[in-house]
Amino acid sequence: MVSDTERHATYLDPILERHGFAATSLLQVLREAQEHFGYIHADAITYLTQKLKLPRVKIEGVATFYSFLYLQPRGEYRVLFSDNITDHMLGSAALMNQMCQQLWVEPGKVSEDGLVSISTTSCTGMCDQGPALLVNNIAINRLTPERIVNICELIRKRVPLSAWPAEFFAIADNIRRRDILLDSSFESGSALNALLARGSTETLQEIKLSKLRGRGGAGFSTGSKWEFCRAAHGTHHYVVCNADEGEPGTFKDRVLLTGYADQVFEGLTLCARIIGARKGFLYLRGEYRYLLDHLLVVLQQRRDKRLLGSSILGCADFDFDIEIHFGAGAYVCGEESALIESLEGKRGTPRNRPPFPVSNGYLDQPTVVNNVETFAASSLIALRGGAWYAAIGTATSSGTKLLSVSGDCERPGIYEYPFGVTVAQVLADCGARDTQAVQVSGASGVCVAAQEFTRRIAFEDIPTAGAFMVFDHSRDMFEVARNFVHFFAHESCGFCTPCRVGTRLLQNMMDKLARGNGSPYDFAEIEKLDQLLLSMSHCGLGHAACNPVKDTIAKFRPAYDKRLKHHEFEPAFDLDYALSQARQMTGRDDAGAHLGESK
Ligand SMILES: Cc1cc2nc3c(=O)[nH]c(=O)nc-3n(C[C@H](O)[C@H](O)[C@H](O)COP(=O)(O)O)c2cc1C
Ligand code: SF4
Repeated sequence: MVSDTERHATYLDPILERHGFAATSLLQVLREAQEHFGYIHADAITYLTQKLKLPRVKIEGVATFYSFLYLQPRGEYRVLFSDNITDHMLGSAALMNQMCQQLWVEPGKVSEDGLVSISTTSCTGMCDQGPALLVNNIAINRLTPERIVNICELIRKRVPLSAWPAEFFAIADNIRRRDILLDSSFESGSALNALLARGSTETLQEIKLSKLRGRGGAGFSTGSKWEFCRAAHGTHHYVVCNADEGEPGTFKDRVLLTGYADQVFEGLTLCARIIGARKGFLYLRGEYRYLLDHLLVVLQQRRDKRLLGSSILGCADFDFDIEIHFGAGAYVCGEESALIESLEGKRGTPRNRPPFPVSNGYLDQPTVVNNVETFAASSLIALRGGAWYAAIGTATSSGTKLLSVSGDCERPGIYEYPFGVTVAQVLADCGARDTQAVQVSGASGVCVAAQEFTRRIAFEDIPTAGAFMVFDHSRDMFEVARNFVHFFAHESCGFCTPCRVGTRLLQNMMDKLARGNGSPYDFAEIEKLDQLLLSMSHCGLGHAACNPVKDTIAKFRPAYDKRLKHHEFEPAFDLDYALSQARQMTGRDDAGAHLGESK
């Protein structure tokens, strides 16, 4: 008779073999095991403890960290509606309600027959074509009430996803403005040929001359990063492409990996040659699972052209290949040290820095982590030279920037501009009218009010990883900030107390204000929380968590004031209300049973 554990061996063995029984692949193994079985069964974990020689607590610790991994059965169809503010603006809450009613399931629960579970998830990276949902991790966009009716019908009839109408899964690129990066008719191998002709040291000089700064948000000099890593001692060097793209409102990496993957992979290969790496990773957010087949084809084409693999372009000492690893629904894994932990198959907890990844990264070895757009840009620089690139943009922000434009505008999508473009110009180009505010760089970015629309997108003015969310005057900026605060509370990894507790307290305060129970006292508390999060948080998530509230209080105070019914202190917890159950149980409702009257 087959034991409970052996039952899982049939599907786990091939997965484990594919991953070479490596503990560093734990996250990938768990993700694939779940794809097979629907959730991660306790007996499957027992089997993995034996095969990977890892303690159970470690495997469960990883499985519970990632919100796309489940230790309990979920629905056969796992539906997750994007909870981003732009999806809300397009009616996602009503659509989710409609689906819950049609399928007789409560939000967050599994239907009694185990057929379906419906819940929310953070931004799915489809803000230009929302409202969006994921069903078994595959995205469906442009939801309408009619589309929800059709989806419910398919679920009720248990139609496999592979037989759902293809148009449900169509994802548009929506490229609206092209400049040097998106216009380039990049030829596979051209940048690598230029590198081999010029030499690695000289190409590194070109990258430095270009003044290219990282496009993932922090804006660190790419040339310096590569130089530090090249100089660092280690047995192996690694290159990692950060395609976690979890910042609400950002979707430009999705478009780059769809249409420009070859150029991105060439950027990784250039970097590998310069720093001396033989192995690279693309860390792809779980929400972009649908890109996998396409990316594998591009990688294979590059191997066939000898642009990846051993002896690249005939150079005996040039070996390099790229592996794709998936995230599983944890925004914090976009932070480079958390990403490296996740790549090593662990919980995505940010590391103490220093040491930095350039000297102590993947498996404690020198590692370059760069954003998708940074690698795409470096291919162009290797091809056309640093001086050419540095002449574009502004003196301190060279080159161009891809913006992911969404929200209240006629033409949401991808816009590429030389750095220095004004907010007003972008608004005019995307057909925004009556604009009240723009949230630049996502929840952790900056909220720009109308009087500031002459400001520029540039590291020296408004730096951005790419999100550009537009809000017209019909929008309530308090609710925008509240959505972002909920996002941070949900995404805090819980490692450090100030962030774990602070983001929850902030969420409670915003909810209290939303219920009309707030008082001016809460503003002082928010200010204190901000100081605490800034000074005591371990990573950028905690540092940024108060930004949306601070910005909107400063610029849209009436949106807060109109919610203040009281001008005296109001506690967050209504003790008298909480005692109502006790009153009911004891059958008392006299004055003495109420807090106010008993004083
Ligand atoms: C909470 C958090 C999330 C982040 N998410 C991303 C991300 O999704 N993509 C990204 O490239 N960088 C992200 N970053 C920045 C990375 O830590 C790192 O700076 C970046 O990948 C370096 O690449 P670059 O120099 O090309 O910008 C994030 C940082 C923090 C603090
Ligand atoms: S600041 Fe927040 S997200 Fe960052 S490590 Fe601490 S708990 Fe985790």
